[in-house]
Amino acid sequence: TELIPSLYSVYQDYFLIGAAVNSRTLHSEKDLLIKHYNSLTAENEMKFERIHPSEDVFTFEKADEIMAFAKKNGLNVRGHTLVWHNQTPDWVFIEEDGSPVSQEKLLSRMENHISTVAGRYKGQIYSWDVVNEAVSDNKGEFLRKSKWLDILGEDFIAKAFEIAHEIDPNASLFYNDYNESDPEKREKIYRLVKSLKEQGVPIHGIGLQAHWNLHQPNIKDIRESMERYASLGLQIQITEMDVSLYGWGDRRTDLKEPTKEMIELQEQRYEQYFQIFREFHDVITSVTFWGVSDSYTWLNNFPVKGRKNWPFLFNEKQQPKDAFWKVV
Ligand code: XIL
Repeated sequence: TELIPSLYSVYQDYFLIGAAVNSRTLHSEKDLLIKHYNSLTAENEMKFERIHPSEDVFTFEKADEIMAFAKKNGLNVRGHTLVWHNQTPDWVFIEEDGSPVSQEKLLSRMENHISTVAGRYKGQIYSWDVVNEAVSDNKGEFLRKSKWLDILGEDFIAKAFEIAHEIDPNASLFYNDYNESDPEKREKIYRLVKSLKEQGVPIHGIGLQAHWNLHQPNIKDIRESMERYASLGLQIQITEMDVSLYGWGDRRTDLKEPTKEMIELQEQRYEQYFQIFREFHDVITSVTFWGVSDSYTWLNNFPVKGRKNWPFLFNEKQQPKDAFWKVV
């Protein structure tokens, strides 16, 4: 294993290399994490429903554990995520009697949430996903329908950034989204971030989730999106990368192991992606995978429950795949 280079060391002059972890993989993937990564993201442990399950209750134990691991081993931490339509508890949007919450109250809850969570980790998180997935995937619709949008209006986005900046002025603040390389959605994300920037909102970067697969998005769309986002003069971070072996419409569940063809295509794709990342290393400040090795991935349950996937650079035995060698 001495002969296996450290991924983050190889990319030292380009960008940080990160991985999403949870309380379990923090231990099961410990050796790989320490050797190959210099950035961590909590896969779920800092999300609203986990860290702030009811109005007066904050549960920091699991997030604290991740922070402690990072500190002990000298890894940087990306914060994920403060304001999102998913994994946010219902209490946030209703009054005690069950009626919809007032604008004023929702804003003060958002303020309380951001200042408590970002405040707790102030100075220890280099970038926060302040707002996640607020742009719509539907043709002709700009922002996604959500309780945040319904109750607070478009301004909820700017407000979230302002609060986060006041609480942790040294963290760089990100807007994060998926389908980020789709030409139509890309323009909506561009438009949103550009207008925030023009309003003087403290936004410092765009997070590209990069939940990609063997066929999509194509390399041309990725490169064009990178150029378009880079033209805003902000940072870019790849925040949740995985490369699924299944195309979007593929619902097959019988695969016991990846075919040789799939694995070869995955290698090629990883090689091409990192080629683009290196080209844009002036604006890309970190590249985070949404997991570590193929022994665990959220894709085993999404979008098809119970279907095995193999999206990473390390196999189920935690050994480097050929894709790893292409990347290094
Ligand atoms: C996913 C986690 O990986 C799963 O464990 C959880 O059940 C659902 O959320 N976009 C995001 C991430 O911003 O927070 C999501 O993470 C994946 C899609």
